[in-house]
Amino acid sequence: MLKIAYLYGKFGTMIPESTISEALGSLFTNIEFQKEPAGLYDPLRYMIEIGGKRIRPRLCLTTYGIFADQLGPHILEPAAGLEVFHTFTLIHDDIMDRSPLRRGHDTVWKRWDEDTAILSGDVMCIDAYKRIAQAPAAVLPEALKLFSKTASEVCDGQQMDMDFERRDNVPMKEYMTMIGLKTGVLIACAAQMGALIAGADKWSQDCLYQYGYYLGLAFQVADDYLDAYGDEKVFGKPIGGDILNCKKSWLTIRAQEKGAEGIIEALNAPADTPEEKAAKIARVKALYDSVGVADDARKAIGDLSTRAIFKGTDARMGADGHEALRAFANSLVGRTV
Ligand code: IPE
Ligand code: IPE
Ligand code: MG
Ligand code: MG
Ligand code: MG
Repeated sequence: MLKIAYLYGKFGTMIPESTISEALGSLFTNIEFQKEPAGLYDPLRYMIEIGGKRIRPRLCLTTYGIFADQLGPHILEPAAGLEVFHTFTLIHDDIMDRSPLRRGHDTVWKRWDEDTAILSGDVMCIDAYKRIAQAPAAVLPEALKLFSKTASEVCDGQQMDMDFERRDNVPMKEYMTMIGLKTGVLIACAAQMGALIAGADKWSQDCLYQYGYYLGLAFQVADDYLDAYGDEKVFGKPIGGDILNCKKSWLTIRAQEKGAEGIIEALNAPADTPEEKAAKIARVKALYDSVGVADDARKAIGDLSTRAIFKGTDARMGADGHEALRAFANSLVGRTV
């Protein structure tokens, strides 16, 4: 551990947020993927070029920057790998959720076709591994172990999400487990990965994992909230998609808990034409409103984010590190609370 700290910089000097933003900008402007066959690699370039918030690599660089002060490929490549992996999950998720819009643009299956989305997603997942594998040799086994565990847990969560569509009663506890897997663990992995590569002690790594996990829960509840109450132009995805897909979102489960009469019938009602779809979304949202779940969601997001900060600040770091964790959490959920 000390050897890594010596190699990559001394503890105590944090990498400023502006340096991280600059590094992220150039990382994704200059990222390279194989060129041929174009049918396989063009969708990768497309998905990276249309942007996204790049939360996971930013978090990875932020936690790295708390413990080390020199950026280089040993951290930038794994950080890019996290974003590439996340983007792969989105390509496949959009097939599974029949979503036409992503990051304000056509989804890969819509723009090309499903076969393209499957194989481009597969190769993107492998590309992510190649980038994670550029972590320093001293931490490589740990980095690969953490990443592989995370990647298979995301699949577990995605399967649970799909299974829940066909269930009429999903307890909140099961929902939280599901979102912890589909969303929490990758954000947790990003937070730990930065600290691991910077040579932070194991205790601090674990605290940062917990920080990322709870932040991920807050983030997914916010995503569910915005799916019903957001602005499509800002959200970059169609509003009401979860309702049309009969998703057991946080809002639906909370509405059920609060006894919203007819919520499951409304959610299961077929909707084929644009008019039927609009009517279904309006009906379900009226039921949400009748029991006030939007306010509950905002409160839950705030509570989960506070819990994340509480977990993170247990890590061995100075006050500026704590402040960086707080600022990151606020920037993540600030759009909803
Ligand atoms: C979308 O993730 C999937 C969820 C976990 C909610 P993001 O909201 O981070 O998507 P991009 O990368 O910014 O498009
Ligand atoms: C997706 O959850 C989580 C993963 C991609 C693993 P959602 O299905 O809610 O994500 P969006 O809303 O399509 O971005
Ligand atoms: Mg999904
Ligand atoms: Mg989706
Ligand atoms: Mg969503």
